[in-house]
Amino acid sequence: MWEKENNIRNIHEIRSRAMIYFGIGAISKIEDVFADKHLKDVKRITVVTDKTAYKVSGAWEYVEEFLQANKLDYLLFDEVKSNPSTDLIDKCIAKSLEFGSEAIIAIGGGSVIDTGKITGVMINYPDVSSEKLLEYEFFPDKSLPVIAINLTHGTGSETNHFAVGSIEAKNYKPAVGFEEMYPLFSIDDPKLMSTLPLNQTRFVTLDALSHAIEAATCKNANPFAKTLSVKAADLVLRYFPLILEDLGDLEARYYLAFASLLAGISFDNSALHLGHALEHPISAIKPNIPHGLGLATLLPEVLEVIYPQAKEILDEMFRPIKKEGVSIKVLIKDWLSSLGLKETLSDLGFTKNDVDSLVALVYTTPGIKYMLASSPVEISEDMVRRIYTNSL
Ligand SMILES: [Fe+2]
Repeated sequence: MWEKENNIRNIHEIRSRAMIYFGIGAISKIEDVFADKHLKDVKRITVVTDKTAYKVSGAWEYVEEFLQANKLDYLLFDEVKSNPSTDLIDKCIAKSLEFGSEAIIAIGGGSVIDTGKITGVMINYPDVSSEKLLEYEFFPDKSLPVIAINLTHGTGSETNHFAVGSIEAKNYKPAVGFEEMYPLFSIDDPKLMSTLPLNQTRFVTLDALSHAIEAATCKNANPFAKTLSVKAADLVLRYFPLILEDLGDLEARYYLAFASLLAGISFDNSALHLGHALEHPISAIKPNIPHGLGLATLLPEVLEVIYPQAKEILDEMFRPIKKEGVSIKVLIKDWLSSLGLKETLSDLGFTKNDVDSLVALVYTTPGIKYMLASSPVEISEDMVRRIYTNSL
């Protein structure tokens, strides 16, 4: 295995459309980032983050010192919560406009990075709300430079051109993708992820694995995406149990972060489909449910539905845990359970009475139809209903 020969303290340059500094200690590259021609004249910055992770991770210590030493003025917007609403994103945009921000630094997981990416774009259009962007009614063509300092190994948002936001009044959680939304630079420093608590570690890893599965199995998946996804799954299958044994295992964090990066680039080159299409209504209705947990409750049923049309690639991805005569649904259910992911949709507070609303949101949330259309299997409303019902 080449992983043992790889020096995990080397910081590599990995290029997707974003320029990503990846490796332990990569936070030190903030200096190189600001030497870039697009950033060297920037004087005013919005730092987008949440209340705690940016400090607990150790990222802020580094970034604050850098900003102060270089006399860069910053506005600290630390109000982001998981599954951020358009109201919250619009607040970040309004404050950034007032401050005169010329660049965005997002320090956090997917919710923070997506808030930063949407702010970077929509600050250029003060008369348009972010709701219009997420309802596919507005199409931007510019963004401020965004620097994503990623603190989880799940979202992949630091690598790609997607962002998610919630329109609370309608229970919509759409995803949008625009060329302008690639971060200019990203920093993936696994050391900054080593304070992720146990459950969050579980949920973000499941998000990354779901990206890998969906990107590799979407209709007409491209071979680059399949290659990235197979490696991402391989790393998750091997390092997920290790990180749960020891949350401080830096090598395991490194390879889970790398898996998440691969999966993020994979779906940037491909598409997400059934799992994400059905999960978004779950965390839209109950924003406190972590996205990765919602995905985990659906995954066995989702895999059972897509398996007939994606057998070869799924067999390759799950070969290390495959058991003869065991269906993919049972295989994954047992594997999730062995990693402490035993929750069902019922455990998350849903009942049979919620299924109609969930199904309706799959068909009314802007953009979800594109995800359904990317499924390798044609998806009917009955199938959607059955997946939700069987996941209770
Ligand atoms: Fe996701």
